[in-house]
Amino acid sequence: MLILLRGFENILTFVKIVRDPAEIPLDGPRPRALVPTMGFLHEGHIELIRRAVAGSAETVVSIFVNPLQFGAGEDYDTYPRDLERDAALAEEAGADWIFHPDPERMYPPGYATSVRVAGPLTERWEGERRPGHFDGVATVVTKLFGLVRPDRAYFGEKDYQQLQVVRRFTEDLNLGVEIVPVPTIREPDGLARSSRNVYLTPELRPRANVLYRALRAVREAAAGGASPEQARVMGEKVLAEVPEFEPEYLAVVHPETLEPLQEWVPGARGIVAGRFPAVRLIDNMEVWIP
Ligand code: PAJ
Repeated sequence: MLILLRGFENILTFVKIVRDPAEIPLDGPRPRALVPTMGFLHEGHIELIRRAVAGSAETVVSIFVNPLQFGAGEDYDTYPRDLERDAALAEEAGADWIFHPDPERMYPPGYATSVRVAGPLTERWEGERRPGHFDGVATVVTKLFGLVRPDRAYFGEKDYQQLQVVRRFTEDLNLGVEIVPVPTIREPDGLARSSRNVYLTPELRPRANVLYRALRAVREAAAGGASPEQARVMGEKVLAEVPEFEPEYLAVVHPETLEPLQEWVPGARGIVAGRFPAVRLIDNMEVWIP
């Protein structure tokens, strides 16, 4: 166990950081909440932690950049990391302790198991563009549940497909963890907060809210009586206004199966992804509220 010390207006504060899975305390107060993250915490993560703290007797934040969910050529090595800052922010938000394992401890020699959600839920959208990504997410989250034994776990709607995948295997495998969704936290101009926003250059940053603006256009078209496909086309027009953005998909989908919709259903979701030079961004929004 490592204890990070920092001076805070003459008061010394500290937060426990557990690195060794064997040292995870299992006898703490209940209900226990888990907030799984890859660190470099921002206001989105902090909102998850705050909600967990408000609703639980003990809140654990995991910080682990999970190699299994990064594809070849993705940013595993360069993914931003700052444990000291993260520890201070998590503590400030009320976290009781942090789980920060080494990759060698999570996947020791001989490690051989993968959790995979099969079917359209993982084959489409992010699953199609990032082969193996959701297997990596499902495997690490299952391990985190097994190690930390939370009663509930908090996930952001920001990663909407991930949230649905987590719900699926948690139910399918009877993991007994309540999955709590948290709405997306945004910058004032609508850009969804993301650890990867640090890759945006100052020139591109003002244009990066185009995903949000496209989703708003879909929602407005829906409210005005457009069909899902007509609304989607309105969103695509907004995306086309920013030449630096290369869209990968913009779709109107069912909120649970993520199948494209011909007719509106309550909770219909707009989902969008694409690339700016040096950074890939995703976003989503509820676009049909009956
Ligand atoms: P990470 O990208 O660090 O995100 C951790 C959690 O914070 C996820 O549930 C994510 O949806 C949520 N989050 C990120 N940005 C948010 C925002 N702007 N508003 C609200 N919530 C936001 O997602 C992962 O890590 C990993 O895949 C993980 C689940 C930890 C498994 O490795």
